[in-house]
Amino acid sequence: MYDTIIRNAQILDGFGREPFTGDIAIQGDRIAAVGSVSGPARSEIDATGLSACPGFIDVHSHDDGAFLRYPGMEFKLDQGVTTVVAGNCGFSAIPANPDADAAAASGGILAGLTDEFTDLAGYFDAVLARGPAINNMMLVGHNTVRTLVMGMARREPTLAELDVMRGHVERALEQGACGFSSGLIYRPGRWSDTEEVAELAAVAGRFDALYATHMRNEGDRLLDAVDEALAIGRTSDAHLHISHHKAAGPANWGKVRASLTKVDAALASGQPVTLDVYPYTAGSGRMIEYFDLDNPSEELARVIRIASCPAFPEYEGRSLTDLAAEGDTTEVSLVKQILTAPKGDRTLCIQFIIDEDDVRTNLAHADMMVGSDGIPELKGKPHPRLFGTFPRILARYVRDQGVLSLPEAVRRMTSLPSATFGMDGRGTLREGSFADLVLFDPAVIEDLATYDDPQRAPAGIDRVFVNGAVALEQGRHTNSGTGKMLRFRRSHHGA
Ligand code: ZN
Ligand code: CU
Repeated sequence: MYDTIIRNAQILDGFGREPFTGDIAIQGDRIAAVGSVSGPARSEIDATGLSACPGFIDVHSHDDGAFLRYPGMEFKLDQGVTTVVAGNCGFSAIPANPDADAAAASGGILAGLTDEFTDLAGYFDAVLARGPAINNMMLVGHNTVRTLVMGMARREPTLAELDVMRGHVERALEQGACGFSSGLIYRPGRWSDTEEVAELAAVAGRFDALYATHMRNEGDRLLDAVDEALAIGRTSDAHLHISHHKAAGPANWGKVRASLTKVDAALASGQPVTLDVYPYTAGSGRMIEYFDLDNPSEELARVIRIASCPAFPEYEGRSLTDLAAEGDTTEVSLVKQILTAPKGDRTLCIQFIIDEDDVRTNLAHADMMVGSDGIPELKGKPHPRLFGTFPRILARYVRDQGVLSLPEAVRRMTSLPSATFGMDGRGTLREGSFADLVLFDPAVIEDLATYDDPQRAPAGIDRVFVNGAVALEQGRHTNSGTGKMLRFRRSHHGA
């Protein structure tokens, strides 16, 4: 007797093949049969009119702390996301040192971290104790490791320091991290040279794992930054993954084509490279990282909207341009006012710096995955990408604009990330795979999260299964707590 049979679904297997109508049987945490399935089962679901596909994989998350703070992970589950990769942009929950400044080591974006752990194994135990709703695969971050070993020192590491850093990366990989990440625009990563990063990425190379990078520049010097990333991939022998690929600022719009040409040349030469993108024309992050306080960029200040701001909560959800007009001041003065106020450095902003055509160019590339880059800070008006990314791909770029086909979009959000990030048995809908599944209505699916009203769940997601259990059922979270902590190329760990 099966646990569940899903009947008459339009099955998208994750490999990019055309959908077919069939049944799916679930037994325990696995898919037991696909096709024409005869019962009996403890429960049957009629999925007539619905599509079924593997659960979506969010390859660019900052959910390290969210797993501890919001183990229900509703903002991801609501989108059909069953697995995330955390530890991106050089910031990771681990390694941690109770004596070090956790806020500094996590760049201020990983809120919710606790002092229950120092390494990946300890972090996994702390998360599992809370019954997480979805699965998590981790990267170990350069900024975090460097801060732990060198604080905010603006110099290259000594050989001894580099050795200690290497040890931290190695320990995380031994415990199951899928790779090493960098965030080279952030502090302290921006003070490191190519050689330092390549030395540490080489540890990932030895494990046949990934080097994922928020590159040193995504604007005027985007192409130089791509060259550096490709060079680090080659010398370290790690699989290069370029995070949130974009060309920032109107003067650079269109450059993603030249950047992808470089990637294609590397691929043609045999170098493994993949990328991810979020389907929005605004980025988001910690405001203090984007401005030189001595000379704040006016061009940037004019496209900023405040997401969360403990110093001036009344600014949340407002653009600097509107606030400047109301207060008879300038955008640049507001930047200074906000960032120099007590707790001003905790301000998160949204910056409209990306061209819609570039989003489409990115999504048309066969090795482009989807990563939300959502920052799980639920105060104020967070960027809607935290709540809408995956349905937005299916609604706007598949159904409305036809930038990619439905089977191809599903492949990019399931089997491609699973194979790349070493998630054995996931991202595919076939007999023997883990039963991470989404049932959705392809005619109805839509992201409803907007910049003005971001915290809205998407429409059209009917059910989500995580490791065989129903985690979301017609808008209701079941608190199944069946998420697992994944180890690179090892099937799973924990309950
Ligand atoms: Zn980033
Ligand atoms: Cu990021």
